[in-house]
Amino acid sequence: MTATAESPAVGEVKAMLVTLRILRTNPEGTAEHAAGESYWQEFQVEAHATDRVLDALHKIKWEQDGSLAFRRSCAHGVCGSDAMRINARNRLACKTLLKDLNPAKPIIVEPIKGLPVEKDLIVDMEPFFASYREIMPFLVTTGNAPARERLQSPEDRQRFDDTTKCILCAACTTSCPVFWTDGQYFGPQAIVGAHRFIFDSRDEGQWDRLEILNDKAGVWKCRTAFNCTEACPRGIEVTKAISEVKKVLTTGEI
Ligand code: FES
Repeated sequence: MTATAESPAVGEVKAMLVTLRILRTNPEGTAEHAAGESYWQEFQVEAHATDRVLDALHKIKWEQDGSLAFRRSCAHGVCGSDAMRINARNRLACKTLLKDLNPAKPIIVEPIKGLPVEKDLIVDMEPFFASYREIMPFLVTTGNAPARERLQSPEDRQRFDDTTKCILCAACTTSCPVFWTDGQYFGPQAIVGAHRFIFDSRDEGQWDRLEILNDKAGVWKCRTAFNCTEACPRGIEVTKAISEVKKVLTTGEI
């Protein structure tokens, strides 16, 4: 059956006009805006309710304004490169459907907060990765390497299963009000990254990591706001992981 303007074919989803209100920044300036000045710009795109915010951003970039800058790679929630603030909440653009955002209203899109903006929705991730590197995100062992894999019981594996899901998108860290204002705090993701190894029975660097996190830039900065847990696109219980690290520091027991 062929669709008409009034009646789409069975199974066909009708397109609609969606408005995206995007916070833009151009380090070189534009005809109307000084270098580095941030300003709002609205775009209207034809989209389907089942499209993702990433699809709408692609339409804008490919059909209306090629200068719009944002990161993305896998488009399937795996690489973590397209975290942004969408309707005041950190999300992955590739995992956010328009129909879940009330597309009848303008959709507000901003860069994640607390990191320097390079251009439009692209931020400088280096301070975020510097904190991640600090906590030694790799297995530390001193014994001889086994001939085959390092064995671990399912129960021991389960202790850090949740924090292995992190994709380093920075949605948690850049949703944290302490991170926005403090300037020193490692942030939730670095603690999640440390948790993944602290509770790994094969690792021998736990106490080195715990000493790093016991610092003034470490876990004690967390004010249990739970923003990080709400923001995580992988559903990691970030605040719980932070509290488990705090508990080890107070009890001395892993
Ligand atoms: S583009 Fe890879 S997580 Fe969204």
